[in-house]
Amino acid sequence: MCGIIGITGTSVVTDRLVDGLKRLEYRGYDSSGVAILDDRVIKRERAEGKIKMLEARLGAHPIDGQTGIAHTRWATHGVPNETNAHPHLSGRVCVVHNGIIENFLDIRQELSHHEFVSETDTEVIAHLVDEALSAGLPPIDAFSQSLKKLKGAYALGLIIDGEDNRIFCARAGSPLAIGVGENEMYLGSDALALAQLTSNLIYLEEGDWAVLTPESYEIFDVNDKAVTRPVTIISGGPAMAEKGNYRHFMLKEIYEQPETITRTLENYIDEFKHAPNLPHELDFTDIDRIILVACGTASYAGMVAKYWFEQIAGIPVDVDIASEFRYRQPVLSQKALFIAISQSGETADTLAALRYCKNNGVKTAALVNVMTSTMAREADIALPINAGPEIGVASTKAFTSQLTALAAITLGAAVSKGVLSAARQEALIKSLIKMPRQVKDALELDGAIEAMAFDFSKAKNAFYLGRGSQVPIAFEGALKLKEISYIHAEGYAAGELKHGPIALIEDGTPVVVLAPFDALFEKTISNLQEVVSRGASIILITDVAGAQHIGDMVKNIIIMPTAHDFTAPIITTIAVQLLAYHSAVHLGTDVDQPRNLAKSVTVE
Ligand code: G6P
Repeated sequence: MCGIIGITGTSVVTDRLVDGLKRLEYRGYDSSGVAILDDRVIKRERAEGKIKMLEARLGAHPIDGQTGIAHTRWATHGVPNETNAHPHLSGRVCVVHNGIIENFLDIRQELSHHEFVSETDTEVIAHLVDEALSAGLPPIDAFSQSLKKLKGAYALGLIIDGEDNRIFCARAGSPLAIGVGENEMYLGSDALALAQLTSNLIYLEEGDWAVLTPESYEIFDVNDKAVTRPVTIISGGPAMAEKGNYRHFMLKEIYEQPETITRTLENYIDEFKHAPNLPHELDFTDIDRIILVACGTASYAGMVAKYWFEQIAGIPVDVDIASEFRYRQPVLSQKALFIAISQSGETADTLAALRYCKNNGVKTAALVNVMTSTMAREADIALPINAGPEIGVASTKAFTSQLTALAAITLGAAVSKGVLSAARQEALIKSLIKMPRQVKDALELDGAIEAMAFDFSKAKNAFYLGRGSQVPIAFEGALKLKEISYIHAEGYAAGELKHGPIALIEDGTPVVVLAPFDALFEKTISNLQEVVSRGASIILITDVAGAQHIGDMVKNIIIMPTAHDFTAPIITTIAVQLLAYHSAVHLGTDVDQPRNLAKSVTVE
């Protein structure tokens, strides 16, 4: 949420800053800006809208220099317009910020002799540092003393007019990394931002602040003590975020799933022994409860995993939405295992839940896609999903890889609890191994789903129904549709619809029913009948046996490859992803960067 990049070096920086912003655009894209130190003088350009608007502005009013900071914004305080766009300037000080300064109103009052021009919380940082400079403090002290006055979350970068090439930066609650180059230092919200510039990163720790010059970096901890932090070498390189021949990142990522699921499986399954293969620290022997916490799509992966852990491993599971978890004062047991599920590993609420559990003595794991993320670094056990960079704001391949990893982890847990017979283990492992092929076959249905999406996309409202482990996929299907097509959609447990929402069904209301031919098929079809008799227009996502059973009762049927009950939710996911994708394309929305959203949500 909000992306930051900074460069201080010996050659010009504007183009490279803008290039970095494009790589960070998934974090927010309602406005952006750049500030440069040109011969010790700050120059700034900002623009409302996507980064291409900033590029156009810079084309008309070029600025350049050897040091600069830049920002792409996801608005929290203040509407997305140019005045509220970062960098914010007060006197000699210019700042970019990701996070929320919670006491900004108090600071504004304290500095009431200053003129504030924006509605943002961020602007107070520039005023605070400028005030300290005006009081005669040297820049380093002005910066570090101002930090002490801030409450809330921040990752920030700051330059000072009249100073040599230097960037001041700090992190508390929001992620920030320093990149080390040759005669050049960088600052970035994540590895992706700096991928073109360096592979040597230093992740700042909570409360750290730093001063970068072209030749050096100095890092200080929360008590202003000079510290050293390890340099991490990042692999992946510049090519890691390209769209290839696909029209959208989202489509590319949907199509990558046979491969990404294979990569996830390789990490958690021993294909020769046909056995789960978990890291040794992930020992379930003494675990009597699992707490799964996540936001958005990742939370639906947790909901599916609850069915699996309880049915297969016999371990009770709590699934919590991260923004609620710590505030409801959950009862925690020392025998519980907490697992944060997060593509980015940076989502503020999920991270806070992880810290809450850690501080309360609960063993923590983080199932993440970004292994250099804060969650991966702070959890007792970091569990990769290996899906590769996910750029589309709506999560697709990360979700199926989260599910794949959780499925394998369930089997590992069941083995260590001694509740999995050899025959069942063999059947379940085989069902996992078959998945990449089945996902590939499911992708063959793309054309048929695209055709169905044409009428579907005309709807104002839609419902998604399922039972058992398909319920969270109904939630996910509805979320995907809402996110990228802006059609209002709700996912429901099929049996629950009659307790209220069925009142919304009228002639032509589309209802997507997820019903593979499993033990609950008949019951789901009864619920389908209930909405059909009230005028609903059905899209049935089932398998060959389900389609045979239903005959010609339903016109729009998507026949998925037949999968084991265990893996069926992962297979049906492909259909709901494609349905949402093609609906959005028909409607002409910005699929990869839907309005109001950001991929990495680093504020509460
Ligand atoms: C944002 C994204 C969603 C994602 C959620 C959780 O809302 O738009 O796609 O599911 O955050 O993100 P995480 O990185 O923690 O999985």
